[in-house]
Amino acid sequence: MKLLARFLPALLLILANAVDANTEKAIFLGPDSVSLASFTTKLNGLSIATLTPSQPKLSTSLPVAFPTADQPRGLEAWYILDFLNRQQRYEVRICWAATQPTEFWLGVFTIPQFLDDAALFQQFTRAGQNKSDQENATTGPAERSVLLLRVQSAADFFTANQTLMSSPPPVDVDIILDPYIANIFPASLVSTAIYILCLALGSWLASRVIWSALSWSRSAGKAHSD
Ligand SMILES: *[C@@H]1O[C@H](CO)[C@@H](O)[C@H](O)[C@H]1NC(C)=O
Repeated sequence: MKLLARFLPALLLILANAVDANTEKAIFLGPDSVSLASFTTKLNGLSIATLTPSQPKLSTSLPVAFPTADQPRGLEAWYILDFLNRQQRYEVRICWAATQPTEFWLGVFTIPQFLDDAALFQQFTRAGQNKSDQENATTGPAERSVLLLRVQSAADFFTANQTLMSSPPPVDVDIILDPYIANIFPASLVSTAIYILCLALGSWLASRVIWSALSWSRSAGKAHSD
């Protein structure tokens, strides 16, 4: 019983991690503000789904492909991370169900990096299917802290079903932009942390009560048989 009580918190932590297992993330700082004029010109009317601190979550379905020599990381999707705070730490996570085995890679690029790198821009236009219904956020200061997010997704399963092997179905994902509190702890994990702490504390208290009840009944039983 005591052993269980000791290991329960650790077990809970492992479980919490297991639930989160299908998560890939990138951690970064909000970059310096830049003028978006040349970037907007380069987009040429293409509107791309955007995550901002006030709209931090996007649920979508991403097309995937099996890795090939040409595309070792499958297919690409691009998003804009807008209205960041300069020098604030963020993480961006992608979460998906274990029933859809996929490998994801996340990369973030600043606007100058993106504009200076012809290869990146080529990837970007090739992936140009991520148009959003939302209007591109044109309201706001002309200079903003903005990053581009690249999501690469490769199917990661094997089945004898030829249909599935030749065209793996799109994967349902949540993409979440999460600011860190005081640059050390992701804001959205605070409630989870409190929950796990309460569970651990609760189970510790419960085990103490049960343990003392057990040892009391044992000593009472001993006294009786004497
Ligand atoms: C292969 O997978 C597809 C899509 O899930 C399904 O419709 C089809 O029935 C499967 N074929 C076989 C032979 O199981």
